[in-house]
Amino acid sequence: MRVLVTGVAGFLGSSLAETLRAQGIEVRGVDAFTPNYDPARKRANLSRLLRDPGFQLEEVDLRIAPPGSVLGGATHVVHLAALPGVRPSWGESFRAYAEHNILVTQRLLEAIPRGRAVERVVVASSSSIYGAPTRLPTPEDELPRPISPYGVTKLATEALVHAYRHERFLPAVSLRYFTVYGPRQRPDMGFHRFFEAARRGEPVTVYGDGRQTRDFTYVDDAVSATIAALTRPVPEVAYNVGGGNRVSLNEVLDTMGRIVGRPIERKHVEPQPGDPRDTASDTRLARRDLGFEPRTALEEGLRKQWEWQRNP
Ligand SMILES: NC(=O)c1ccc[n+]([C@@H]2O[C@H](COP(=O)([O-])OP(=O)(O)OC[C@H]3O[C@@H](n4cnc5c(N)ncnc54)[C@H](O)[C@@H]3O)[C@@H](O)[C@H]2O)c1
Repeated sequence: MRVLVTGVAGFLGSSLAETLRAQGIEVRGVDAFTPNYDPARKRANLSRLLRDPGFQLEEVDLRIAPPGSVLGGATHVVHLAALPGVRPSWGESFRAYAEHNILVTQRLLEAIPRGRAVERVVVASSSSIYGAPTRLPTPEDELPRPISPYGVTKLATEALVHAYRHERFLPAVSLRYFTVYGPRQRPDMGFHRFFEAARRGEPVTVYGDGRQTRDFTYVDDAVSATIAALTRPVPEVAYNVGGGNRVSLNEVLDTMGRIVGRPIERKHVEPQPGDPRDTASDTRLARRDLGFEPRTALEEGLRKQWEWQRNP
């Protein structure tokens, strides 16, 4: 088994690659070190992997890489490279979202040869494809109606997976991750921003009244689901991957206050366009087919993230 991980220097990619290596699996990583946040952080994410002979890094931008050069003999592919984040996806930056998320996925899927040389392709999707869902917890057959341009690009990604699966018989599947957190979380994400503000003794900026809820997923649980999707039979075209920790932002901040040892001061500002009010994953399909069993409770996961932010 030789796994190609795209976006390997990112939050999820580097965590996945380390777990695969710990299982003795060869990993080929691809990343362009895009500037959505400081590329030095991404290099730091790879520091352990780069000393490991079973890991190989290719610095390449998948928007322009020659298709034949990307796979490098991989038997399995996890496609995580993308421009993430809901809020910056409006306006002029949509062009970049469309390129990094839609075009790159199409080029990667196109580069995979027919036949069974590549046994499985797992592609990162997102809970944001659901927009403002009618059902909570939300099952996979909810009509996807994203409310952000980012969500639209992820829905297009999934549509490409479906098309290549249907017409090219590509063994591909999408995973709809719900807000992932833990060590290496991206600096633009909520928990990371909150802990940073707490560290500096500054108030945290909360979009809206803080009563919005999210289904938070600890990074190791997201990684386990991803590895299961690489190796187990996957009859469905897409699976929810959510930690089952659905709580309000206010509750999260209370827990964080306990962890950092003092209450966290909040500054409430207007809700942001594209942010759903609530997310909650129905994970019955992932439990059935991927054996998905989230193991990390929110407080425990938050403690691990806080430890990492204090001593990266
Ligand atoms: N973190 C979450 O909570 C979450 C939730 C839902 C979905 N996702 C999806 O999971 C994936 C990973 O997210 P993350 O939080 O680790 O983000 P991240 O930004 O930390 O990692 C993405 C990586 O992809 C690389 N990349 C982007 N465009 C590229 C290109 N054209 N060529 C090569 N490399 C490129 C970036 O340099 C980056 O290192 C993304 O597809 C994201 O949309 C993440």
